[in-house]
Amino acid sequence: AELREGQDVFVSAAAGGVGTATGRLARLMGAGRLVGSAGTAAKAAYLTEHVGYDAVFDYHTGPTAELLAKAAPDGIDLYMDNVGGEHLEAAISSLRAYGRIVRIGTMAQKNSTDTPYALRNLPDIVEKSLRMEGFLVSNYRDVQEELNAFVVPHLQSGRIGLDETVVDGFGGIVDAFLGMLRGENLGKIIVRAAGAV
Ligand SMILES: NC(=O)c1ccc[n+]([C@@H]2O[C@H](COP(=O)([O-])OP(=O)(O)OC[C@H]3O[C@@H](n4cnc5c(N)ncnc54)[C@H](OP(=O)(O)O)[C@@H]3O)[C@@H](O)[C@H]2O)c1
Repeated sequence: AELREGQDVFVSAAAGGVGTATGRLARLMGAGRLVGSAGTAAKAAYLTEHVGYDAVFDYHTGPTAELLAKAAPDGIDLYMDNVGGEHLEAAISSLRAYGRIVRIGTMAQKNSTDTPYALRNLPDIVEKSLRMEGFLVSNYRDVQEELNAFVVPHLQSGRIGLDETVVDGFGGIVDAFLGMLRGENLGKIIVRAAGAV
């Protein structure tokens, strides 16, 4: 994402596995205002109290563009997109000139039968000279060691914590997966096999 110190960031699905890690890393890397969206007020409160987000809105409470504009009144430099659809449209509107979008996931269109959302402000990408790039974690295996060297000391010192929802028993794997799609998880959802620690 080429985050530079002081830049303002918006993260969608901020309470999930990717979103909590993104928030914690962005905070460590000196992000400016850090804004997220999540599906419940309880998730929003967790993110501001424990993960380091400055403001988080529940996207069910109004049009996403309005909620984002209120949470980031001066705009954003970077959008980490786990959702697509209305969230992406809102972010394009809030991005400043030369802003960047990193497309990670498409939770708003998780079923192949979901009607695709037609973005109405694509011309803004040209007008504001925005850049949008797809991110695939499998393309970055070569920096795994670099990530470990950066993050592990912060985990050991307690400067950053883990955000996990644990489901016990391998038999729960389908329910855990469906629950994740419905937003029942906070942080990474982990299925713990019997006997595992
Ligand atoms: N590109 C890659 O390499 C890569 C790697 C890992 C994951 N991903 C993608 O990144 C995204 C996040 O993954 P994750 O593992 O961290 O999942 P996650 O965020 O832990 O779980 C998905 C979350 O999405 C939210 N959600 C569900 N439907 C939504 C909707 N219609 N609009 C907005 N939010 C919705 C739910 O939380 P709420 O309660 O907030 O709605 C749910 O908890 C997924 O799209 C995943 O496919 C990409």
